Amino acid sequence: MIITIDGPAGTGKSSAALAVAERLGFDFLDTGAMYRAVALDALRRGTNLEDARALAFVARHCRITFDWEKHPPGVLLNGEPVGHLLRSGETTRAASYIAVVPAIREMLVAEQQRLGRERGDIVTEGRDQGTVVFPDAPFKFYLDATPAERARRRVAQLRARGEIVDYNEVLSQIVTRDHRDATRAVGPLAVPPGARVIDTTSLSQDEVVDQIVGIVKGSPAK
Ligand code: DC
Repeated sequence: MIITIDGPAGTGKSSAALAVAERLGFDFLDTGAMYRAVALDALRRGTNLEDARALAFVARHCRITFDWEKHPPGVLLNGEPVGHLLRSGETTRAASYIAVVPAIREMLVAEQQRLGRERGDIVTEGRDQGTVVFPDAPFKFYLDATPAERARRRVAQLRARGEIVDYNEVLSQIVTRDHRDATRAVGPLAVPPGARVIDTTSLSQDEVVDQIVGIVKGSPAK
């Protein structure tokens, strides 16, 4: 069974999807990590991020795999564990260039569909999982939150890591990234038809997970 969870960055999607997968005994597929891994490879090769053809070349020649024995699954780039390198500011920025290249989306979508068939029961998280990748999934969710709340969460996360960050700068990056995600030609961020929308602005992560698991198990949480 496939459960899709889409939505913009900062809605707590990744943590919620991972927790739902653990509660249901499903595999967790972090599709953002695939875009990020291609971005890391492009950065390492010094590829021009404005050159879509060069980026597609990088994507075609790198191998992104998951170690399903780990929780969350480990991300491997050409066999090298790179999970710890994927969340830096530089990789995050580069990933948004990767995500707008149609040829790369085509490759990663096909790979995600293959993984869905291979793994069977998955909770998959991204921007286009319910719209493009698994439109027939029996359970589709779209998590949202106000940009201000998402910026607040992001700032707290970065400060906890010891980084010095400015709230307004983070908020403006979020708004810019949302715009790029929602207006790209292929696989834009959108609420999938038939998806349940959950506004996480004033919900805790546990409340979000309870709602999703409740709906999947057929007894919606109140
Ligand atoms: O969810 P994330 O922040 O890890 O995603 C990294 C980038 O990849 C971000 O720019 C959105 C993009 N992305 C996408 O376009 N489609 C997906 N299914 C997942 C991520």
